[in-house]
Amino acid sequence: MADSQGTPEETSASPEQKAQMEQAYAQMRRKMRMTQLDEEIKHKVMVLSGKGGVGKSTVSVGLALSLARQGKKVGLMDIDITGPNVPKMLGIEDAELHVEDGQIFPAIGPHGLKVISMAFLIEDPDKPVIWRGPIKLGAIQQFIGDVAWGELDALIIDFPPGTSDEPLTVSQSLPGIDGVVIVTTPQDVALLDSRKSINFAKTISLPCLGVVENMSGYTLHGKAEPNSQISVMGPTGTAIESTSDENGDWSVTLDVFKSGGGEAAAVELEVPFLGALPFDPGIVRGGDDGVHRIIAEPDGATAAAFDTVVENVLVELEGSSGPTVRIS
Ligand SMILES: Nc1ncnc2c1ncn2[C@@H]1O[C@H](COP(=O)(O)OP(=O)(O)O)[C@@H](O)[C@H]1O
Ligand SMILES: [Mg+2]
Repeated sequence: MADSQGTPEETSASPEQKAQMEQAYAQMRRKMRMTQLDEEIKHKVMVLSGKGGVGKSTVSVGLALSLARQGKKVGLMDIDITGPNVPKMLGIEDAELHVEDGQIFPAIGPHGLKVISMAFLIEDPDKPVIWRGPIKLGAIQQFIGDVAWGELDALIIDFPPGTSDEPLTVSQSLPGIDGVVIVTTPQDVALLDSRKSINFAKTISLPCLGVVENMSGYTLHGKAEPNSQISVMGPTGTAIESTSDENGDWSVTLDVFKSGGGEAAAVELEVPFLGALPFDPGIVRGGDDGVHRIIAEPDGATAAAFDTVVENVLVELEGSSGPTVRIS
């Protein structure tokens, strides 16, 4: 006889049903979490490059610091599992992440910058981590949902070079990404590399916010007789002429890798040019010492160049998500 409670057979779910229910529940929780992340983080920007070694991590850290020193609430997420160097660049590689109620709290860098890096999950930083594709991408997905960022004005996401798996996974796991900033060096090949990155952004339906030319000219400074002619041998063997000012100060910019490739790429590919960052040996030293150039020399030319790039990125961000209609 059937009563309203049902028989035990009717009410208790099978192990498969239970597993299914748990899965659906976990999925729902994750979805809610994603909506929350979308609401809490105003702007999300992915930093990409066609190849490694162009300074993508340096630029990601620089953009984040430049925003943070303007008083913005900024997060920086370093997805590079195989060679995560963001914490080292910020001098916080020994930071221990605080975990509470299944949430990971970011480490705090200069100017209150919130930093999450796969590096913090690795016990021995000298041991290369070999994770098979699906496990790695699953870890990234989980990682994104578990970080307690709190309210942020901007989240900058840095990726490992080469593969497009990680940006794809992030774009699928984190809703509301504003767009992609592409970092390039100024050689002719930049055009080819940047085109690849722009096409990639298109395939994952994200706007390209623009191109940054990194390792642009290297500026030499010197002293001479006031108002005198200066001649410096340039990298291509041609002399570069300059004149000292009334105090005897002179400067000459050498195009180490040529310059203007990033801007030419931006024009040709019809995306905004966000600015050029100088070739600065202090950036290399800063990477080793854990003191980014923006922190070591906040009033220097490199810090100012980062501020200009950030200004241009903000114009693109406000233009793409704000109520203003852009006329170009
Ligand atoms: N503007 C720059 N001037 C001088 N060296 C730079 C500049 N940008 C990056 N570097 C150096 O180039 C190397 C690669 O930079 P990194 O940011 O790790 O590149 P990626 O993340 O693209 O692999 C590092 O040693 C870094 O210090
Ligand atoms: Mg890098």
